Amino acid sequence: MPARILDGKAANQQILDELKPRIAQLAAARRAPGLAVVLVGNDPASEIYVGSKVRTCRELGMHSEELRLPDSITTGELLSRVQALNADPAIDGILVQMPLPKHVDSRAVLDAIDPGKDVDGFHPVNVGRLVANLPGPRPCTPAGVMELLRRNGIEVKGKRAVIVGRSDIVGKPMAMLLLHQHATVTLCHSRTADLPGESRRAEILVAAIGRTGMITEDFIAPGAVVIDVGINRVTDRDEAARLTANDPARMAGFDKRGSIVVGDVHPADMARLASAYTPVPGGVGPLTIAMLMSNTLEAAERRLL
Ligand code: GUN
Repeated sequence: MPARILDGKAANQQILDELKPRIAQLAAARRAPGLAVVLVGNDPASEIYVGSKVRTCRELGMHSEELRLPDSITTGELLSRVQALNADPAIDGILVQMPLPKHVDSRAVLDAIDPGKDVDGFHPVNVGRLVANLPGPRPCTPAGVMELLRRNGIEVKGKRAVIVGRSDIVGKPMAMLLLHQHATVTLCHSRTADLPGESRRAEILVAAIGRTGMITEDFIAPGAVVIDVGINRVTDRDEAARLTANDPARMAGFDKRGSIVVGDVHPADMARLASAYTPVPGGVGPLTIAMLMSNTLEAAERRLL
């Protein structure tokens, strides 16, 4: 049976359509929700993400501010920018795009964000709320994965879920969200002994390691649900051909743009073995934005209603 494609664009649109009337209601009763996105430096991938976050805000009738700050900024200067946003009454949500330059103390910056305006759920108070399964903002990418599973009727309860990657942004919160939905969770990482063997036990496999196409056929049990969180640009034509099994449409895209975007899972292996999977692009990515919008609206509702 061909694998089912878990369409992130469709789920994204559904979620945004559900948010629109709530945003309009809040704007009529008080004011539009406001999101500030802080981008330090000019990492091309971060610029693309930030651009689409700001664009989606505008489409939804939310207020958004984009702060572009130079690579040379000090931790102290960035902290005072965050403090100004904490005090700004028009701003309900603050997102500081990661990664920050190496000389900046990222932890100090994330800790400085008012937990009530923390739309990433990265503040320690909100991490604690997640672990304790108390209400609060959930990190957008793992929350988006849960929405995608739920909206596609994929049962999590009692399933063996394996996550590859233990980042604070994806892997760790993903483990908590799956656990709270009663999955049996294994969290793997670069030092895991027999990573293919652990991964092959997964009924739900989440790949979030940031290594292009690393999850190949020996990691995927036939019939698994595979969620690919990776976003990697491939500029080598031979590598693109190998990863896509020479898929004509994808190779035409490569020839037009000089690159394609591939996840952490080998796309051809995933399509052949999985019962359902998220494509890259168009899988998890659009959900991350939808959940950011949802977290911003909820922060605004908490502050204003
Ligand atoms: N960089 C990659 N993903 C994210 C995210 O969800 N939030 C922030 N702030 N930075 C990111």
